[in-house]
Amino acid sequence: MTILSYRKTKRSRIYTPSECEILPYVMRDRLGLDVEMREYRIEDHPGIRTMYDDFEPKGLAMGLPPPDDGVRKRWVDDVVTAFYNFIALRERKIIGHAAIDVFRTKASLEYLIFLHQDFRGRGIGTEFSLTVKKICKKLGCRQVWVTVSSANTRAINMFKTVGFKFRGPIGVEREMELNLRRKTRKKK
Ligand SMILES: CC(C)(COP(=O)(O)OP(=O)(O)OC[C@H]1O[C@@H](n2cnc3c(N)ncnc32)[C@H](O)[C@@H]1OP(=O)(O)O)[C@@H](O)C(=O)NCCC(=O)NCCS
Repeated sequence: MTILSYRKTKRSRIYTPSECEILPYVMRDRLGLDVEMREYRIEDHPGIRTMYDDFEPKGLAMGLPPPDDGVRKRWVDDVVTAFYNFIALRERKIIGHAAIDVFRTKASLEYLIFLHQDFRGRGIGTEFSLTVKKICKKLGCRQVWVTVSSANTRAINMFKTVGFKFRGPIGVEREMELNLRRKTRKKK
């Protein structure tokens, strides 16, 4: 009994991604360039807006980032407010953004990830998503999900590498989920 209550206390000690002590760190991409991964801070707001203004093609991922300047500005503001945000930086410039909606629920989190076009296909998305997966596990989350266009093969490949699997009906939009529940051993 004592051991069980100790476990419970230990597990519930981590409430926010910063308490996980996984970020910040520097990763090396497939070209051998260093990329810093860290949590988003309020002072990163202009930099994240610039990344999405430069992002091409706009609307690539399920209409995101929104092509219209005003709508995009509001969308960025909404995401950085409602989600917990992580960024990837190369020479202090934001080149990637990932977010989880952990404030709404810890049971099934929506996940977003966007990399600037000059930095795609170098393993940064995979590394970033594996890090977010580790953080979600430490937070005790059960599941992470994404919506992806079925034509977005690079994103689908990357999500599969991280462990996401398709769920729901087949269509132009697909949902993929990552199950983080510990596998329970079958009783003999
Ligand atoms: C989707 C995204 C986050 C992936 O990150 P990334 O750093 O480009 O991906 P990685 O390099 O880590 O991995 C991509 C995988 O797809 C493969 N790949 C690369 N280019 C590809 C292409 N054009 N078509 C299909 N697969 C491709 C790579 O070989 C790699 O697989 P591997 O690890 O088995 O070699 C990034 O490309 C991106 O921001 N895209 C635009 C926004 C988006 O689609 N977001 C996802 C929806 S929320």
